[in-house]
Amino acid sequence: MVQNLTKKIQSAKTLINLRKKIYFSVLKKVVPTKSDLLKEKKLFLEIEKKVLSIEGKHSHIEWCGSSARNTHLKNDRDLDLFIMFDRVFTEEELEGEGLRVAAKVFGKNKYEKAYSQHPYLRGKIKGFDVELVPSYKMNSGEKIKSAVDRTSLHNKFLTEKLSLSQKNEIRLLKQFLKGINAYGADLKNCSLPGYGAELLIYYYGDFEKTIKAISNWKEKETIIPFKTKSKLNLSIFKEPLILIDPVDENRNVASALSKENYDKMIYASKLFLANPTINFFFNKKQNMWPVSKIRGFLSKKELICVKAFFPKSIIEDLMWGQFRKFLKKISHFVKENDFVIENSKIFGDGKEVYFLFQFESLTIQSAKKLIGPKFDDLENIKRFLLNKKVISGPRIENDKIVIEIERKYTSLIELFKLFLKEKMIEEKDGVVKAFKKAKILNEKEIIEEYSKNKEFGKFLINYLIGKESFE
Ligand code: CTP
Repeated sequence: MVQNLTKKIQSAKTLINLRKKIYFSVLKKVVPTKSDLLKEKKLFLEIEKKVLSIEGKHSHIEWCGSSARNTHLKNDRDLDLFIMFDRVFTEEELEGEGLRVAAKVFGKNKYEKAYSQHPYLRGKIKGFDVELVPSYKMNSGEKIKSAVDRTSLHNKFLTEKLSLSQKNEIRLLKQFLKGINAYGADLKNCSLPGYGAELLIYYYGDFEKTIKAISNWKEKETIIPFKTKSKLNLSIFKEPLILIDPVDENRNVASALSKENYDKMIYASKLFLANPTINFFFNKKQNMWPVSKIRGFLSKKELICVKAFFPKSIIEDLMWGQFRKFLKKISHFVKENDFVIENSKIFGDGKEVYFLFQFESLTIQSAKKLIGPKFDDLENIKRFLLNKKVISGPRIENDKIVIEIERKYTSLIELFKLFLKEKMIEEKDGVVKAFKKAKILNEKEIIEEYSKNKEFGKFLINYLIGKESFE
C-alpha cells in the first residue's frame, strides 16, 4: 500500500519534471529574441514619430495587440497600431482622417484597405505586418462606439494586470492551442483568440494551472476574470465556453469557439497532463504518402469530395462563414433523403476549397420502409396509407403496420449534382460564385488533387489517419 503510494507520488513528480522540460524547449522556440523585440520597438517609434508629424485631427497613436504586451509568439511579426481620435469627431471624420494619416505612414510601402467594423489599412513595413486602425480614445466604463475601440481598453487592462512571468505562460498556452488546432477566433478556425488565452492565464495564474482547470471544465464553463458588483446576465450567452470580456460585460471573448474545439481543449489538456509530449505544441512532420497508399485508404471509405473556389471579390474569412453554413445545409439535405453522413470536413487555402463527406454508403436501395400505426387502429392506418405509392405491404411487424414505398433518390452523386444545380439559388452570393465551377471529384480525381496540391494532400492524409494531431 505504502509502496504503491510512493510509486504514485514518484510518477507524479516524474510527470511534473517531464512537463517542465517540455515547457523549457517550447519557450526556446516561441519567445522572441531581444533583437526581435528591439526591432519592433524601433519600428513603432519611427511610425509614432511620423504620425505625430502629420497635421490632422488625430491625437496620438497607440500600440495594441499582443506585440505591445510582449505576449506574442516569435515569428509573429504583427504590429497592431491605433490612430486615436477624440470622441467629439464623427465616424466619417474618424474614417476619412484615419485612413489619410495611415496612407501617409505607409507611403511607398505596399498596403491595402481592410475591414473590421470600419475600414483600416494594413500592409508591410520593414518585414512587419502593420495594421493602422482609426479608433476613438476610450476611458474604462465609457460606451464603445465600435468593436475596434475595445482593443485599447484590452491593452490597458492586460498591461496593468499581467505579471512579467505570466507573459511566457501566455506563450505556452498560445502555442499549446496552436499545436492542438484550437487557436484563432476567425471563421476559419472557430477557436479561442490570443486575447482569450491571455485572460485565461491572468485568471488561473500560469500555464499548468490553466491546463489543469481546462481539463476539469464542464458543460458551459463560465469565467468572469474580473471583480464586478453588477449582476451579469449570463443567459444571453449560448456558446460552449463563456469568458466575459473585462472591458465589456456583454461580450463573450470565446464566442467563436466551436463545441468541437471546446471539447478538444478539454481532451488535449487531460491527455497532456497524463502523458506530456512536445507533440501537443508542435505538430509532427507529416511525410507525404505514395499514391498507392492513398488509393488503398480511399478504397475502404465511401467518400464524396466537392471542389469549389474562393471568389476573388469576397474576403476569405467571410467565405469561411458562408462555406460552413453551406456544409450544414447540404448535410441536412442529404440526411433528409435518408443518407447517413459519418463525418464532413472542409479544407481551404484561400484559393481552392474542398468539401469532404464520408457516408455509410453512397447508394441506398430504392425501397423505403415506413412504420405506421398499431395494427388495431384502423382509422389512423387509413390516413397513413392515403396518397402513398406502396410497392410492398401493408403487413404487421412488431404490432405495427409496415409498408414500403419507392425512394426518389438512391445515389448520393445524383443528389449532390441536383443540389448544386437546383438549390444554389437559395444560397448567398459568395457561395453561388464559389460553386460556379464546382466539381464532384471521383477517386481518381481526388488522387490527382492530392498530387497537385501539397497542402490538400496533407489535409487528406490527416483525414485518412483520422486522429487528433497530438495523439
Ligand atoms: N481582439 C478581440 N477579440 C478577437 C480578436 C481580437 O478582442 N476575437 C482584440 C484584442 O484586443 C487583441 C487585438 O484585437 O489583442 C488584436 O488581435 P489579433 O491581432 O488578432 O491578436 P493578438 O491579441 O495580437 O494575439 P496574437 O497575434 O498573438 O494571436
